[in-house]
Parts: sequence; C-alpha cells; structure tokens
Amino acid sequence: MTQRHHSDLMAQLRATQKELDTDLPTPTREISAWPQPQFSDLEAYERIALAQAAGTQLGVASPFFRAMEKSEGTKAVINGKTCVNFASYDYLSLNHHAKLTQAVTTAVESQGVSVSASRLVGGQRDFHGEFEEKIARFLGTEDAVALVSGYLTNFSAIRTLVGEGDLVMVDARAHNSIYEGIRISGADHVSFPHNDWVWAADYLEENRQNYRQVLIAIEGLYSMDGDTPELQKFIDLKRKFGTWLLLDEAHSIGVLGKTGRGLCEEQRIAPDQVDIIMGTLSKSFCSCGGFLAGRAELGELIRFGAPGFVYSVGLSVPNTAAASEAFDLLISDPERVARLHTLGTQFQSLAHGLGLDTADAGPYAIQPVIIGDSLRAVWVSNALLDEGFNVLPIIAPAVPDQSARLRFFLNADHSMDDITAALETTARLIARSKTQFSRTL
Ligand SMILES: Cc1ncc(COP(=O)(O)O)c(C=O)c1O
Repeated sequence: MTQRHHSDLMAQLRATQKELDTDLPTPTREISAWPQPQFSDLEAYERIALAQAAGTQLGVASPFFRAMEKSEGTKAVINGKTCVNFASYDYLSLNHHAKLTQAVTTAVESQGVSVSASRLVGGQRDFHGEFEEKIARFLGTEDAVALVSGYLTNFSAIRTLVGEGDLVMVDARAHNSIYEGIRISGADHVSFPHNDWVWAADYLEENRQNYRQVLIAIEGLYSMDGDTPELQKFIDLKRKFGTWLLLDEAHSIGVLGKTGRGLCEEQRIAPDQVDIIMGTLSKSFCSCGGFLAGRAELGELIRFGAPGFVYSVGLSVPNTAAASEAFDLLISDPERVARLHTLGTQFQSLAHGLGLDTADAGPYAIQPVIIGDSLRAVWVSNALLDEGFNVLPIIAPAVPDQSARLRFFLNADHSMDDITAALETTARLIARSKTQFSRTL
C-alpha cells in the first residue's frame, strides 16, 4: 500500500468510526481485578520490536514487506524503479500469460467469484471435479483433492491421518505447515537431520514397534536450500517399516522432472510409490490453494474428514480457473521447465566461478547464496535493490545465523544477462559488506 493510499484509508476509517460512535451505546466500565492484556506485552511482540530496533540502530532498513507497485514476469517496480525480480514463486512465468488471464475472466463472468459454501454442503461445482481429475491425470495418481490453501493442505492432511499413539518422522528443514499439522494432530514427532534417511532408519529400527501408524514427511525441493532428498531411500524405509510417506512438492511440481511432474519424474520413480503427494497452487500454478494426490481412499478421507476441506469454503472460481489453465500451459509447453533447468545449471556454474557459496542446492529454480550473517544478508539485499535486483534475505531464526543467505528464485523467462549481472553485483556487495560491517560492529 502506498503512503497516500494508507492516509486515505485512515481518514475514511476515522469518518466511519465517528458515524458508528453516534449509534453505539456507551460501554459500561466495570472495575476488574485483571489488568487488560496488551499485545505488546507478548514475548513474540518484544522479539519483533527488538529486531526492528536493532536494524534501525545499525542503519539497516527492513527488507520485509517490500511493496511492489507492479510485478510482471522477471521484472518488478519498487519505489518507482524497475528491477529484476528474483523473489517470486512464478517459476514458469505464467502469471501474466494471456491464456491464464482470459481463462480467469471467462470463468468469473460465467460462474461468479466465490463458490460461497463448503463443497460438502453446497459449494461443489463441476469445475472442481474436472480440475482434480486433471491433477490426478498429470501426476499419475488415482485421485486428487484441492483445498483453499497450500498451508492448510499439509496441516489438514496430517491432522486427518495421524493422532495420539502415532509418530511422524519429519525432515528438520520441512515447512512450518507440516510441523503445525503434527502439533495439532497429537502424534509424537521426531525431526531427523536434513535428508538423513540413515538416521531415520536407525530411529525406526528401535522405535517402530511403539507406534500404531508412522508417517514420514519430506519435501521434493527444499525451499530454503534448493536441494532434493533421495526419494528411493525414503520409499525403501516406508516399505521396510510399514509407514506412510508424504512428499510435499510445493516447490517441485512444475520445476523438477523433464515435464515438471516433480521429484518422482526427476528421480524416475513411479508416483504410486508415494502415499501422499502434496502440492500448492501458489507457485508454478499462479493461483492460491493446495492439493493432495494419491489413492482413491486418501481422497475420500480428505473429502469427508479433513477439517480444512470440510469446514472451509471450496476453491474459488478464479483460483481454480487460473490453476487449471496453468496446468494446461505446463502440459502443452514443457519447454518452460527445460529452460528453468538450464538457468539453474548456469546460475550455479557462474556463482561458483565468482566464489559464491550455494551450499547443497541442486541446479534448480531455488538458489541460496550463503552470506553467513543475518545483518550482512539484510544489508546486501537492500544494496542489491538499490542496484536494480530484488533478492530477499533469509535470516535467523528461519535459518541459523551462520547460514543466513540470499535466496534467488529463478523464473523460466530470466535471461542469462539478468543472472550474470545479479551475481556479479552480489559478489561485489558481499565483499563490500565485509569491510562495511567490520567497521560498524
Ligand atoms: C514446502 C511448502 N509447503 C507448503 C507451503 C504452503 O503453501 P501456500 O503458500 O501455497 O499456502 C509452502 C509455502 O511456501 C512451502 O514452501
């Protein structure tokens, strides 16, 4: 929101409030022994305030909630200046595709915007079923179910499948939606070192017999690190110990595999080897929502039992139309995926040539550049913006301070010139940040 928008809105709000105040009864003020709670007394609030104060004191502006006036393809306009954007999940560069916007317009004109009810009780539309069939066909699973948020998809699936007396083995770097789903499920959980299936196997060897059901949760392409697990090893584990395997493909469908079908395609594994394939619509598919794909019984369980499906509205008309069209575009033009692969490979060789550390990332669409200090990562990100590149930092506590990083999201339409210029500038600014901060601290 621009400054002007904000003050217009505040003025409007004050006027409305005044109007309302004249109609409202005067509140009775009872004396309470309890002080009124203040949000600012919460520890979480204090942590935020402290981090902001530290940034201000060191003269480093916050890079978060950096507002864009416009964003299209590989470019964004921020503070009136056009920059190359490396901070978007629009991996396949479809967000402004004419067919996508046309599909949304046509759908909204004929169906309205919202489906206005839970699908179970009035919100079901023909296009929901058609869309889910499309996902299942694309992935090679028996069924797929779409929910209104990717976050809610993990959360609800885990809550539905496991509970007290069960165990979830989860990769230490898995997404928060998985961890929160585990928490609410009441199942025990063990977080294993990142990608370490040997550790997980040892743990299961000793503890499997203590649990009824066990679920192993991993991701196809890790969003902070840009690396992938050895899927076959986790499949072997699930077979040996009789567990389920959930594969979160939020960042890998549309990105991994020759035709974008995700980690199974990338590592040549039949999708029916994985019990639960989870995906989001907010990344390669330029929409909002999530889905679960797998066997027909999984679909039934989710449709009749998952809280985020049963007690939430069905996927909206424009969100379904956009995602459905994006699937069609991906299917008809897998060349976009090939371009992303090429860019990932070239990014890495260029970065390494400049002495930049991309840690364990593979040659894919997510590329971290390790800075090793949260404050310097923020400074470099701000300085990059000044030079025309929007790259966001990932800092403590999201990652340990010593692995604070910049995270580049690649998009099929980035040019090698964009990437070369961004990486050369990054290398120069990292070197500058070291001298700058040895003086400041
Ligand atoms: C691995 C992973 N899973 C799930 C989600 C949640 O998806 P959404 O943002 O579409 O709600 C994200 C979001 O970034 C993610 O990175």
